[in-house]
Amino acid sequence: MTTESLSSGAAAGRPLRAGVIGLGWAGQQHMEAYATLPGVELVAIAGMEDEPRAALGEKYGVERRYADWKDLVADGDLDVVSVAVPTFLHAPITVGALDAGIHVLSEKPIARSAAEAQAMVDAAHRSGRVLEVAFNHRRRGDIEALKAAIDAGQIGRPYHARAIWLRRAGIPALGSWFTNREMAGGGPLIDIGVHVLDYALHLFGEPQVVAVSAVTHSELGVRGRGGATSDKQLVGSAYEVEDLASVLLRLEGGGSIVIETSWAAYRPAGDEFGITLYGTEGGADLRVVDYAPAGELTIFTGDGEETADVRVAADAGRGHLAVVETFLEHVADEANWSQWDGSLALDRARVIDAAYASAERGAEVRLQPATVGADDTSVDDTTADTSVATKGA
Ligand SMILES: NC(=O)c1ccc[n+]([C@@H]2O[C@H](COP(=O)([O-])OP(=O)(O)OC[C@H]3O[C@@H](n4cnc5c(N)ncnc54)[C@H](O)[C@@H]3O)[C@@H](O)[C@H]2O)c1
Repeated sequence: MTTESLSSGAAAGRPLRAGVIGLGWAGQQHMEAYATLPGVELVAIAGMEDEPRAALGEKYGVERRYADWKDLVADGDLDVVSVAVPTFLHAPITVGALDAGIHVLSEKPIARSAAEAQAMVDAAHRSGRVLEVAFNHRRRGDIEALKAAIDAGQIGRPYHARAIWLRRAGIPALGSWFTNREMAGGGPLIDIGVHVLDYALHLFGEPQVVAVSAVTHSELGVRGRGGATSDKQLVGSAYEVEDLASVLLRLEGGGSIVIETSWAAYRPAGDEFGITLYGTEGGADLRVVDYAPAGELTIFTGDGEETADVRVAADAGRGHLAVVETFLEHVADEANWSQWDGSLALDRARVIDAAYASAERGAEVRLQPATVGADDTSVDDTTADTSVATKGA
């Protein structure tokens, strides 16, 4: 099969044909979106578990059901595919699908490392197809409301933020692929911290990250504590990753962001994420407890004792539905396919790489603008200043 032999459904005047690989929570969000949105039909699914595969196939009226992703990609006539599988499979599946001429929406994190992510971006360029990564948190209504407030100048120029996603006992199943370093690439930092990194940089207006200093701790998971009950794919893994990470980002122009994330820590029960943001004309605080559809968002302005704290009402937002909808809009816009090549997610991967490198070395890691291909994205062990390449602004 050649990429030339495939035409997008939009160009051919028929609905796009979509496939979803992965039957877990994430895959089901993509299935639901393809089943809901106009101009697309869900025609194939893949995943290793027989029962959910059959049940989801029935639910969405999908007859083409595969145990292995390779059979779905080889099926031949898909326009778009969502990749919602353990992270070590993101790169091989994405590259395989792009090389077969299929546009790809991968789940976050884009991959286990920036080097893998770079191979995915290279495949998007080679195939001329769209590659996007699902950052659904920035599509929450409360984050969108905060972004609108910042863009309207309500807090002036943001110069510092503390952004968190913390859980008391939320290791996504002890013994699952999530706790296996080889399969997941890391713990809460790469899993939920990547969402925090994404929405924090998005809210700041995408400044370049120039340096990263991080610590990671692995205290509870290794002792069998902090596990959540879930239906994640179990692989019998030992606990090999961190259960808490704290990261300081230095931004171009002098701004800074602290990200703190945990799957397990002795703190108030449940799950909490959000951001506290300080700007030159005001501040903002968003707190979302236990997956509330809309969090508590407050904007702080005024001066001295003349303060004005305004609670902002936000909608629940559309999360994955919005992510999939935007992906399909980009796929329909053939003239601009090259704009959507996964490079924003690659930038996120470079920052995560730098954070893990910093934690391991006990030193700040500087990020250098990348000039050429994949080799530049790896941690440079030969330099004294412990630098990691990053994409130019
Ligand atoms: N964006 C979000 O909010 C969000 C939330 C949860 C998970 N995720 C991401 O989605 C991905 C999957 O996470 P999950 O929680 O759904 O995991 P999960 O363990 O519940 O499901 C993984 C699925 O991948 C399938 N799979 C594994 N190997 C396969 C193969 N060779 N061929 C076909 N299918 C295969 C499994 O059979 C299973 O159905 C991860 O990358 C995770 O980071 C994103």
